[in-house]
Amino acid sequence: MAAKQRLDKVLAHLGYGTRSELKKLVKSGVVTVNDKVVKDSGLQVLPETDRIVVAGETIVYREFVYLMMHKPQGVISATEDWKDRTVVDLLPSEYQPFDVFPVGRLDKDTEGLLLLTNDGKLAHNLLSPRKHVPKTYYAKIDGDVSESDRIAFAEGVTLDDGYKTLPAELKIIASGNQVDGIYGEIELTIVEGKFHQVKRMFESVGKKVVYLKRISMGPLVIDPALPLGETRELTEQELAELKQHQNA
Ligand code: URA
Repeated sequence: MAAKQRLDKVLAHLGYGTRSELKKLVKSGVVTVNDKVVKDSGLQVLPETDRIVVAGETIVYREFVYLMMHKPQGVISATEDWKDRTVVDLLPSEYQPFDVFPVGRLDKDTEGLLLLTNDGKLAHNLLSPRKHVPKTYYAKIDGDVSESDRIAFAEGVTLDDGYKTLPAELKIIASGNQVDGIYGEIELTIVEGKFHQVKRMFESVGKKVVYLKRISMGPLVIDPALPLGETRELTEQELAELKQHQNA
C-alpha cells in the first residue's frame, strides 16, 4: 500500500540533494506537487501517485533498484573499504543515492556476475542457506581435473576447516597436458556460499584455481554484452524470474 513520505526524503532518495539543499530548493518555488507550487520541504506526499515536478522535470519514484554488475578483478564486494575500491565505487552516479549493496560476495580476484540491490528482503532470501540457490562458476585450474574430482564434488568434499560441502556439479570443459602446463577448464555449480568455497574445494583435491568467474546465480546469467566493470539494471523478465526463484 502506498505510504505518505516527506517530500525532502523522496527527493533525497532520488538523488536531488541533501535535506538542507532541498529545503532551499523547495523554498525557491521550483517544485510543484499536483501542479501546485509548494514551499515546505517537509510536506507529506504520496511518491507513487502524486505528480511531483522539480524544475520542470517530473520525478519517477521507485523504492528499489536491481543491478547486474560484471565485476572486474581488484575491487571488493562491499559498500565501503578503508583501503580498496569497492563495487559500489564503480556504480554510475545515478544509482549512488539508492544505497545498494552486493548480494553475496565475490573475492577481490574473482570476476563475473554480481547482483546489487537495496531490496533487503530479496537479498536475504537469495542468500538464505536454506534456499540452496545454485551459483555456477567458470574456472581455470592449475592441475589435471579428472572424473574422480567430478565424483568427489558430487559426493561432497571436506574443506580445510572440516566442513563437508553439499553435492556440487562439476563439468570438465578441458583437461590434461597443454603446451603451457597441466591445466583444466571447468564449470562448477554449488548451492551454498562458504568463504572461498570454489578455491577451497579444489584445494581439497590438491588443485589450485588460477582464474574464477561467476556466470550465474539462480535464474540470473551474466549478460555477455555487459563489459567488465559495467552495470545495468535487470530487465523486467530477469527480475520476475529472480522474485519467483526466491519464493520457490
Ligand atoms: N568461491 C571462491 O573461492 N571465490 C569466490 O569469489 C566465489 C566462490
